[in-house]
Amino acid sequence: MKKLIAPSILSADFTKLGEEVEAIKQAGADWIHVDVMDGHFVHNLTLGIPIVEALARTNPPPLDIHLQIDKPESFSEKFIDAAGDSILGITLQYETCALLHGSISTIKARGVKAGVAISPMTPIYVLEEVLDYVDMVLIMTVEPGFPGQKFITSMAEKVSRLREIIDGMDKSPLIQVDGGIKMENIKLIADAGADSIVSGSGIFSTSDYAATIGQMRSLIG
Ligand code: DX5
Ligand code: ZN
Repeated sequence: MKKLIAPSILSADFTKLGEEVEAIKQAGADWIHVDVMDGHFVHNLTLGIPIVEALARTNPPPLDIHLQIDKPESFSEKFIDAAGDSILGITLQYETCALLHGSISTIKARGVKAGVAISPMTPIYVLEEVLDYVDMVLIMTVEPGFPGQKFITSMAEKVSRLREIIDGMDKSPLIQVDGGIKMENIKLIADAGADSIVSGSGIFSTSDYAATIGQMRSLIG
């Protein structure tokens, strides 16, 4: 299956967000990763409903919304409404979502892909009961909260372990990897078994998004 590249819009130039979305779309982005942070779960406050509504008006690539917030279940439908026809999926953070079964069901009932993300120090086994139920698992390869952090190398082995588990299952939720992914480590993480790869500063800090995404694709197949 073709590996999917999801640039994180949090690293884009917010003074010209519409142009950035168009540029990354033309550059061949498969999805746009939208990092929502509330200043509670993580010590950062990023973007919310109005920005997602604005993104949706630009006819963007499918929006892959990563809710790094407390009680994400209370906002998932609001973001689904805000994204409209551009919605791809909502990813809940395992560490802040106590009511996982109901929260996942709510997202799926809207015909939207449901994902669960785990932070670097959260072990894979906590996902045992959700693997059969979710559409995607997001392995964080940095501590949630900020773009531009250093990739935690030991997470590649964690991705391989999850790959092995999912390859032994009937269902096959996608594996997404997020955090510190750059040209120099993207092949490592693709080879470990990632299906969808998020990169923020690794793409938006470069001058030619098409060349960057093209070079990433040549490395990951
Ligand atoms: C971190 C976010 C990531 C981050 C990616 O909390 O979930 O999506 O913004 O940015 P880079 O690729 O620069 O680490
Ligand atoms: Zn993210």
